[in-house]
Amino acid sequence: MQTRLLSPDDQGIDEACALLAAGEVVAIPTETVYGLAGDARNPEAVARIYAAKGRPSFNPLIVHVADQDMAERFAVFDSEALVLTDAFWPGALTLVLPLRPDAGIASLVTAGLDTVAIRMPAHPVAHRLLVAFGGPLAAPSANPSGRITATTAAHVADPVNGLGGRIPAVLDAGACPVGVESTIVGWSGGRPALLRPGGIPAEAIEAALGQRLMRPSHDPDAPSAPGQLLSHYAPRASLRLNATGAETGEVMIGFGKVSGDLTLSAGGDMVEAAARLFEVLHQADAMERPIAIAPVPETGLGAAINDRLRRAAAPR
Ligand code: TXA
Ligand code: MG
Repeated sequence: MQTRLLSPDDQGIDEACALLAAGEVVAIPTETVYGLAGDARNPEAVARIYAAKGRPSFNPLIVHVADQDMAERFAVFDSEALVLTDAFWPGALTLVLPLRPDAGIASLVTAGLDTVAIRMPAHPVAHRLLVAFGGPLAAPSANPSGRITATTAAHVADPVNGLGGRIPAVLDAGACPVGVESTIVGWSGGRPALLRPGGIPAEAIEAALGQRLMRPSHDPDAPSAPGQLLSHYAPRASLRLNATGAETGEVMIGFGKVSGDLTLSAGGDMVEAAARLFEVLHQADAMERPIAIAPVPETGLGAAINDRLRRAAAPR
């Protein structure tokens, strides 16, 4: 199969819609990372997503919607959930909410759970596609399972580290502005919990809610958000964290005043570091040498950046 790049204009969006309506998968830009989209109501389309990614079937997918009306057809929003959608949608926040029994979402999307992860993306091309398609799109990140997340169409279309040759098309809208996946919030025993740090800092969510998020301890054998499986986002090479300089043979990734062959952000800017994270990991991995990376502070977006780095460095 040849993977085509579609332009982010009316013609490209029409072509993407036609493929999706035929039960095919298409990689799409979002403000966080590229997603591999399929019609969330069509079990065959969803099965194609799992097959293209090589994803274990227990790992459920995020459903992307155009607007709040579409969201409420699939999930039950209580007042706390509505506070968060008012504050952060459209945007880099995914909510895990009770699935409506009559939602019509393919059970492969939720992996049989009675909850659904749902998000309204802010990227203008994703939004136009969702409006044109008029239905929910299931979309995990558009990388082979366990490999580095894709933040450009070139990452997605790469035949070795991406999905090139395994999917029919990528809607190409350049680099994703946020660069790390969405923050995931769910409820456990009625209390809001941070299931995955991401593009919206937990501190901002806590300020909107007026309460602390629970941080479930991560038992890798029973993940509450299976994206929390320890070895995830893995480059092919080994990765050494909190490095202040390269050892022999290493590719050094700097941050702030720690310099390197590459840098997340020479000025120590966390937004720039998040946006560049996966591009820099892809570049370092292409050099086929062990990788070392400078420390990144744990505050704000640093929580998401360090979460991804710890997983990328985990033994596998
Ligand atoms: O930014 C993002 O979130 C990107 C873009 C494409 O939207 N998507 C993304 O999807 O990162 P994915 O599939 O790579 O990560 C989704 C995470 C997984 O860790 C999955 O286990 C969790 O969401 N998840 C999905 N449904 C869930 C549910 N019902 N309960 C708990 N976790 C769920
Ligand atoms: Mg992913």
